[in-house]
Amino acid sequence: MKDSNFLKENNGRFMWHPMTSPADTKENPPKIITGASGVRIEDIDGHSVVDAVGGLWNVNLGYSCQPVKDAIKDQLDTLPYYSTFRGTSNDAAIELSYELNEFFAPDGMCRSFFTSGGSDSIETSLRLARQYHKLRGDHGRTKFLSLKKGYHGTHIGGASVNGNANFRNAYEPLLPGCFHIPAPYTYRNPFNETDPEKLAQLCVAALVDEIEFQGANTIAAMVMEPILGAGGVIPPHKSFAPMVQEICNRNGILLITDEVITAYGRTGAWSGARLWGIKPDMMATAKAITNGFFPFGAVMLGERMAEAFEDNPAAKIAHGYTYSGHPVGAKAALACLAETKRLNIVENAAARGDQLFEGCKALMEKYDIIGDVRGGHGMMTAIEMVSDRATKKPIDGGTAGKVQEVTYESGTMVRVSGPNIILSPPLVLSQQDADVILASLDKGFASL
Ligand SMILES: Cc1ncc(COP(=O)(O)O)c(C=O)c1O
Repeated sequence: MKDSNFLKENNGRFMWHPMTSPADTKENPPKIITGASGVRIEDIDGHSVVDAVGGLWNVNLGYSCQPVKDAIKDQLDTLPYYSTFRGTSNDAAIELSYELNEFFAPDGMCRSFFTSGGSDSIETSLRLARQYHKLRGDHGRTKFLSLKKGYHGTHIGGASVNGNANFRNAYEPLLPGCFHIPAPYTYRNPFNETDPEKLAQLCVAALVDEIEFQGANTIAAMVMEPILGAGGVIPPHKSFAPMVQEICNRNGILLITDEVITAYGRTGAWSGARLWGIKPDMMATAKAITNGFFPFGAVMLGERMAEAFEDNPAAKIAHGYTYSGHPVGAKAALACLAETKRLNIVENAAARGDQLFEGCKALMEKYDIIGDVRGGHGMMTAIEMVSDRATKKPIDGGTAGKVQEVTYESGTMVRVSGPNIILSPPLVLSQQDADVILASLDKGFASL
């Protein structure tokens, strides 16, 4: 490694960072992370902090997970790469498809298509949804529906179904034919409805209305996160997803769950679909599939998809990535699945998630700047900050950054997304680690 002076001097000079202003990167250079173990990361100045971000919602098994590291090293020695395009395959990808189809069978899944990450998985789902309808002669079904505040990655298709203007404006015009439904966001919604169950009904009514307006026979698919993540951890009422599924089924619209965050245990269930008891047509997964150690993703497909493509000899998938089914990623994913099951990771995700949620609610009693705390489904918690609780006026720019900085100095890395502090730590978090996170946040808020 180059010495610390060199790295600090060149930090922010040549590299553009995702979701960041290059000018700001020069002014406020990012923290240089040099090491990680367990649930902790270490920066170049020797600070060791609990990583309450969990990498980027992906390091579910922590940084030390040896079986995944070993799997990657072994595979690099055996077969470091080969493509799975027509004519070739590899043992790791075959075995992974078998294991994943078993893992997601309770969600109604029976096939997989491999990608290089979450945005790819969403793009793949959108494309296959359109192709599904074409294969069935339904050429008019090309539109997509999704939720406001949803995040679906950064490819043009994903950005088009994204429900947050911040990720859209600079890149418009986006894909035509994408329409957004109000999110079941109890704290702020256009209906001023504070009862989550009633709000779910209102959002579903808006969905029905949009389908009628567009014409059901023009809509290919509805895409949604089972719990909205980057939009500020927004869990809907438990009646919401089943109602959406029923309406999609009734109208011949495919349902895609964006499980890039929620699959593999984060919600305290093995998948977001299972959390809500639904069976989508496709599930877009990535992130924790390899514990963040290798860029990889998988789109899981249900029976309807399998039939449409496999019963038609002319159906060709004219889509795929150089790294689809990458043997190193596939081996990493196999090791992750085995560890995830061996540790029965959902149990700890639920228990520690509850601890964090309750702890954040206790902070809300103490600090007026906290307007809302959301969570209660595994290791996904958000603290929304306001400058005035009565009017819910959003905080001034800079406040969240200050809380984040003091929280970091006090021992925990947290993520700021708009007015929200988001907690998504590794699912192997201990009770003591969760205490550290809450104590650091306490200091962060106390500093204001
Ligand atoms: C719900 C969801 N979908 C898609 C993506 C995009 O994944 P990636 O950044 O791996 O492309 C993300 C990333 O955070 C996500 O949270």
